[in-house]
Amino acid sequence: MQADAKAVKRPGQGLHHECIEKLPGGLISGVVLVDGTVRRSPTGNSDFVNRLLRHYEAKSWNGAPRYLGRDEEGRDTLSYVHGYVPWRGGNPAVASSAALAALARLVRAAHDLTAGHPLADGHEVVCHNDLSPKNTVYRSADEPLEPVALIDWDLAAPGRRVHDVAHLCWQYLSLGPGTDPSWASRRIREVADAYGVASADRQELVSKVAWWQERCWRGIESGAAGGDAALISLREAGVPEEIRAAHAWVTHHQQTLEADLASD
Ligand SMILES: Nc1ncnc2c1ncn2[C@@H]1O[C@H](COP(=O)(O)OP(=O)(O)O)[C@@H](O)[C@H]1O
Ligand SMILES: [Mg+2]
Repeated sequence: MQADAKAVKRPGQGLHHECIEKLPGGLISGVVLVDGTVRRSPTGNSDFVNRLLRHYEAKSWNGAPRYLGRDEEGRDTLSYVHGYVPWRGGNPAVASSAALAALARLVRAAHDLTAGHPLADGHEVVCHNDLSPKNTVYRSADEPLEPVALIDWDLAAPGRRVHDVAHLCWQYLSLGPGTDPSWASRRIREVADAYGVASADRQELVSKVAWWQERCWRGIESGAAGGDAALISLREAGVPEEIRAAHAWVTHHQQTLEADLASD
């Protein structure tokens, strides 16, 4: 972690020293830790996300950070969830059967709390839309990893359960070149069982992984072409090519990836 001190002038308080740490793992929002709480610049979706986090709080659900309001610089303030975030990626422990099953149950709980609620706006549930290891806080780095909270709800929106489950499979199972498709098929089945994915949705699950991948690389390309600085740096880092290769891999291995979902 990179830590530095910044002098901030607050009205009526003279010069106040905040301890600021740049949090690792964020590619987009420049999220910082200030005096023990997370601060992030508001986005066009912040009002929705803040209502969602307040809803989880009202339901006493601890699987998301608490929304604590806006700070004096207009940033959203969130509680810091202590634990281990595998933000560097590549920790195979996120794909153990036990860690995945616990994660699937956590996502199921998040979804069930919004099913039929006005926040879901007539859709099945509110989806997180960016489920990935670097957006997951685990209790500690001890194995089996135990997920305690989902963070980075920036992209949350009304949607279908299967979309989040597919994104989860893509990200935690690293569905792309270098992964064994038969191993992945067993894990996808375990995720579907732990979540309790309905049979009609099971049939769409792997197609939805490919759908996410295509949407993602196209989104980065078009945002970068439109001048978005964060997306330009992702493009320069070769991210769209990696995702295109992952998309081609999923499409090529689709039958194998679906094999265990189809069996009893
Ligand atoms: N509420 C939180 N509790 C603990 N860690 C957090 C929290 N919010 C963010 N982080 C840390 O900061 C990183 C970046 O935050 P995130 O919300 O994922 O931003 P970005 O949109 O940039 O990905 C995360 O990967 C995590 O390591
Ligand atoms: Mg993130």
